[in-house]
Amino acid sequence: EKGGYDWFMLKEIDEQPQAVAETLLGRYGRSGRLQLDEMRLSDDELRDVDKIIIIACGTASYAGLVAKYAIEHWTRIPCEVELASEFRYRDPIIDRSTLVVAISQSGETMDTLMAIRYARQQRARVLSICNTNGSTIPRESDAVIYTHAGPEVAVASTKGFLSQIVACYLLGLYLAQVRGVKYGDEIDAIMAALEKLPAGIQRMLDEGEQVRKLAAELVDTRSVLFLGRHVGYPVALEGALKLKELAYLHAEGFAAGELKHGPIALIEDGIPVFVVVPPKARDQLQEKIVSNIQEIRARGALTIVLAEDGDDDVVPYADHLIRLPKVPTLLQPLVATVPLQIFACELAGLLGHDVDQPRNLAKSVTVE
Ligand code: BG6
Repeated sequence: EKGGYDWFMLKEIDEQPQAVAETLLGRYGRSGRLQLDEMRLSDDELRDVDKIIIIACGTASYAGLVAKYAIEHWTRIPCEVELASEFRYRDPIIDRSTLVVAISQSGETMDTLMAIRYARQQRARVLSICNTNGSTIPRESDAVIYTHAGPEVAVASTKGFLSQIVACYLLGLYLAQVRGVKYGDEIDAIMAALEKLPAGIQRMLDEGEQVRKLAAELVDTRSVLFLGRHVGYPVALEGALKLKELAYLHAEGFAAGELKHGPIALIEDGIPVFVVVPPKARDQLQEKIVSNIQEIRARGALTIVLAEDGDDDVVPYADHLIRLPKVPTLLQPLVATVPLQIFACELAGLLGHDVDQPRNLAKSVTVE
């Protein structure tokens, strides 16, 4: 039931603090050790892993792109992210020590299912991150980490996405713990920051009115761009995907560093560009993106800047400034995605589209 909301998507956006809290619940004991009940792979097996390949489709693949930064940082295991539909057609190099991580909200996406079947034939170990108990993908996996986001009805994934990132982080930290790598020290700090995250997400929801007003102002726009760096890059991709899915608008996400290698040619008077600014603590990335904002604004872009509290460097170049709570860089996607979801949802509603069931899309695609 929609519980008083016009759309399931609005309800699911609002449920994100809880989805994140539930996904974290019971996984970090007082002993300071992570526990993953459905892990099923032994510590020895996990110590053998020398490569991780994340496979997924759509929004879930962007959760994978975010996770790659964290998993490589904490575990020092090389991690690739690949679209499930591409994976098994390229003769991938996998063996017994490859950990294939399938991310799927529904657990039924055919491309992802075929990819894990292929991976298992090649003797890889398969772990799935899934929101649907007892669905096909976790049943065919060696291990599973369930996200506890609750049922997601709207076709476009929202709370599914945030909880997938959290589950991937739990996996990364767990691997770091089991393997005893240097970054194991960070587990405590990151877990503490994760525990505080639902409050940060709630704040983004409480401040949603700013983004809804912006959507009303931009209702006639034909094209929207999104820029990000580091973990902000997949956030840009996700922001653009949401607009395509819901508002049927041309929207593209770019790595901000690529701007001068092509996309800057798209900048024309009045084009809205969302820019996700990394926390200042992140060496040089923040400065670089601030100059990107100047470059596009000088060429007429309408800049919509997402930057953490206290980052005043962006103020002179932001036509609209969306403030984010201060969080560690790796956690920023979990707050920065929220206004982009609200924007797409609001714009689609204003355009008179069916927000929950966009044209031509299905919640779970069970054909290849
Ligand atoms: C798509 C849905 O078709 O499948 C997306 O419209 C979703 O919202 C993608 O991200 C992957 O779905 P799942 O269930 O495998 O995460």
